[in-house]
Amino acid sequence: MPEPAAAQDKRVAIEARNIVKQFGEGPSALRALDNVSIAIRENEFFTLLGPSGCGKTTLLRLIAGFEYPTEGAILLDGADIAGLPPFKRPINTVFQSYALFPHLTVSENIAFGLQMLGRPKGEIAGRVAEMLKLVHMDEMAHRRTDQISGGQAQRVALARALAPAPKVLLLDEPLSALDYKLRKEMQIELKRLQHETGITFVFVTHDQEEALTMSDRIAVMSKGKVRQVGSPWDIYDKPAERFVADFIGETNFLTAAVTGLSNGVAHVTLKSGAQIVATVAEGFQPKAEATIVVRPEHARAVPQGGQLSGTVENVVYFGTDTHIHVRLAEDGLFTVRQQNSRAQSCGFAVGDRVGIEIAADAAQVLRD
Ligand SMILES: Nc1ncnc2c1ncn2[C@@H]1O[C@H](COP(=O)(O)OP(=O)(O)OP(=O)(O)O)[C@@H](O)[C@H]1O
Ligand SMILES: [Mg+2]
Repeated sequence: MPEPAAAQDKRVAIEARNIVKQFGEGPSALRALDNVSIAIRENEFFTLLGPSGCGKTTLLRLIAGFEYPTEGAILLDGADIAGLPPFKRPINTVFQSYALFPHLTVSENIAFGLQMLGRPKGEIAGRVAEMLKLVHMDEMAHRRTDQISGGQAQRVALARALAPAPKVLLLDEPLSALDYKLRKEMQIELKRLQHETGITFVFVTHDQEEALTMSDRIAVMSKGKVRQVGSPWDIYDKPAERFVADFIGETNFLTAAVTGLSNGVAHVTLKSGAQIVATVAEGFQPKAEATIVVRPEHARAVPQGGQLSGTVENVVYFGTDTHIHVRLAEDGLFTVRQQNSRAQSCGFAVGDRVGIEIAADAAQVLRD
């Protein structure tokens, strides 16, 4: 679904404006962030998604105030916060390593930030009790944190970061150390916490499924640049660039001749000669030949007909669905994903000649 209009009216909580972050000088200098601009809205679950080394942690550290930008500004509620040291920013971070104090108990860890802020004792006790309940750790309040499990440590780290009621919570791959099942549980838990506290979450992951299932909006990054910002639906169904289409999920790339463009829609002719209509990525510069993408689940194999044709090269059964890899007559390999039924198999075998039917509204023209 596209974003509801109401979401777009929300106030901006954190803004990164034309951020450049360079490490080192001269020929060995490295641009970790290259003119990054993003605006994160209040109460948003906003995710930075991208491969290792693309600059996610660097951007979080700039927002938190552990690093300073080479160029550009970080704004909180519209005001530049360059002059504020980390502990004066209403922003807390949950680090990947959790960084709990092992000699302190669960309660003492959660109380730590509040003590640093000089809050009264009575208030701290009340707040710690509230946080323990929120993360379901009340029964372990007096355990030392070197005597709890990884998932429990994760929850304590979250409670500690949430205790001072920050405006913004930064989470750097907080779930990556957990096993699959616990990770799934914590994903739901995090969404619940965000919903209940109303805090803006800036979440870092390189796991595209995690990003799609948890986020209100996602910024896809690569090599120090933000490639696209949008809802999970935007990012998955309307990728703007090859990198985004390729990084998120599985997709098919086809070369096509653009024969007409109007109102964000293109008429294209595929190499097979078939003509289809496709949506067009924002920023697309009109050109004669372009790349279009079609997700595997938006196409199906048919015994004859369809806009493409080829030979079945592989049939892979996944339980819920079957992937059929088709060697196209003119344009490489195309994967079709079909949902399975109990009544019958997908009906195609290696070597079969098949047609491929592309669903209406399934094709998107990329800008590169
Ligand atoms: N203090 C530093 N000095 C020099 N280079 C740095 C420094 N911190 C980060 N970098 C470099 O900046 C780039 C971005 O690093 P960053 O840690 O932001 O990546 P990341 O997206 O968080 O990656 P990962 O998913 O592996 O955590 C990398 O090439 C990294 O080597
Ligand atoms: Mg990182």
